[in-house]
Amino acid sequence: MERKHIIRAVCVSIFLVALTVLMSGLVTGGHLIYRDAKRGDLAPLSREDIKYLNVESPEATSKDGTVNANDWSAVYPEIVLTWRDNEKNSYVTDYLEQDPYLVNIYEGYGFARDYGSARGHEYCLTDVHKTQRPHPKANCLTCKTPNFAKLVNDQGVGVYSMPFEEVEAQMEESVSCYTCHGNEAGNGGLRVVTHSYVNKALGNNVNSIDPSTLACGQCHIEYYFTPEDSETMMPYHDVTGMSPDAILAYYDAMGFKDWVQESTGTPMLKTQHPEMETFLQGKHAALLNCADCHMPMDMADNGTVYHSHTLVSPLDSPVLLSTCTTCHGDTDMTKLVRGIQERVTARETEVGNKLSEFKDALASAVSEGKKSESDLDALRKLHREAQWYFDYCYVENSEGAHNSELSMRCLDTSEAKIDEGMAMLAA
Ligand code: HEC
Ligand code: HEC
Ligand code: HEC
Ligand code: HEC
Repeated sequence: MERKHIIRAVCVSIFLVALTVLMSGLVTGGHLIYRDAKRGDLAPLSREDIKYLNVESPEATSKDGTVNANDWSAVYPEIVLTWRDNEKNSYVTDYLEQDPYLVNIYEGYGFARDYGSARGHEYCLTDVHKTQRPHPKANCLTCKTPNFAKLVNDQGVGVYSMPFEEVEAQMEESVSCYTCHGNEAGNGGLRVVTHSYVNKALGNNVNSIDPSTLACGQCHIEYYFTPEDSETMMPYHDVTGMSPDAILAYYDAMGFKDWVQESTGTPMLKTQHPEMETFLQGKHAALLNCADCHMPMDMADNGTVYHSHTLVSPLDSPVLLSTCTTCHGDTDMTKLVRGIQERVTARETEVGNKLSEFKDALASAVSEGKKSESDLDALRKLHREAQWYFDYCYVENSEGAHNSELSMRCLDTSEAKIDEGMAMLAA
């Protein structure tokens, strides 16, 4: 073949590949729009543009009484009703009562005072208001209300470090349509990232995550507040960075700590709720998204098929359980999930109590002054890491169901570091 034929053949193949990529983008429809146009680009909208939900009135009204013409309950009555049903998930477990060792390991941090399990989205604003944990800045409102996301989108990152009370007084509703759809729910339920830090942290890598996973991943993630301006931030730039090891390395590299524990002197990390990270490193990552297991399909009287927006455990939904059979056949899913959760929680209790003993032993070593500073620093490093890995599993809300291997590995890693520390202390 002549050289120019080879070049032409190469050009044609490149063109065909490019066309295929473009077409596959087009056939995924909503995804393409989501990817190209809607990433947190909300500047033209003003705060008043948020479409409100109002429980009393079929027409949405905002706090000052003005009727908002953009009324979701008129357009999507079923979805709005199912969303409000999240109110029924109101039960809270007091983790500090259930696992008393937590009070000791979180010493010096807010979670030692008040740590209850999560409940429905309806309660976000109530719960952040009444928590006994201190919240000096407005950044605690990040994952509670679309009004806050909007305020950041409109006014910039300065909002994060405003006084909590001042900003809280302006908040009008808990997590709601705007959070996951911007004002585009009417556009076939287009999912929009409204939390600007997601785009900042992931950049173009947001494209590698399913929109129905990222919608939840705006909040169900590990995060930190940047030392410069207290901005909420994700500690990675892509999916490979979403492992406990990579995140720990990220924090170590920037010298980050959530607090210094007084009795041990350890620069501690507090893991938040790494649901998305844990899920994306697991076996379903490439197969399913969050909605597939937490938002069952439903049908309205007029035949409209829609995703129920009551976020449930798949074990409580016959519709969701029936979807598992596609891949799991006739496996008893409840037994499978509860079995994993029992093993994980039993190990949590075991490792958590050991961690508490290690913390006490380290605190004694510090107060007795018999170890050298360099030995103490090596011990503190082990302590910081042991607690990080323990917490990464403990605070993940599925109790192992999302990724049992990772949960177990975190607990094993934590235990190995505790054992190493105890051996050093005994030497
Ligand atoms: C926590 C995120 C979240 C919130 C809040 C939310 N949605 Fe959705 N919504 C989704 C996801 C995820 C899907 C799509 C599921 C899929 O197709 O994968 C969806 C789908 C939709 C759809 C497309 C039709 C369907 O059922 O699939 C509409 C319309 C919609 N939502 C309207 C609303 C309205 C109205 C509200 C406020 C009451 C709302 N959504 C609140 C996440 C959310
Ligand atoms: C704007 C932030 C935000 C987004 C987005 C979000 N959540 Fe949540 N979610 C929360 C908060 C905060 C709580 C805890 C509320 C409380 O206890 O007051 C919560 C609680 C929950 C609970 C109840 C937990 C329990 O143990 O009962 C489930 C289930 C849940 N979310 C699933 C989802 C799913 C699935 C999505 C995506 C479709 C999603 N969330 C999107 C912030 C968010
Ligand atoms: C393969 C199905 C599956 C997928 C996909 C999935 N989850 Fe779950 N999730 C579960 C199961 C099973 C549980 C445990 C439920 C229980 O204890 O009853 C759970 C529990 C949870 C809980 C604790 C609340 C509760 O009801 O106990 C939250 C919050 C949660 N998932 C969020 C998410 C988020 C966010 C995503 C996406 C990043 C996601 N899940 C993806 C199956 C799934
Ligand atoms: C598209 C296929 C598919 C669907 C649908 C599916 N799963 Fe899975 N699931 C898998 C695969 C593949 C594995 C890994 C099996 C293995 O490694 O042995 C798995 C493993 C699991 C595990 C063990 C995970 C772990 O980390 O130990 C649980 C729990 C689970 N699935 C729950 C569910 C539930 C609940 C549903 C329905 C709501 C569901 N799955 C639907 C494909 C699927």
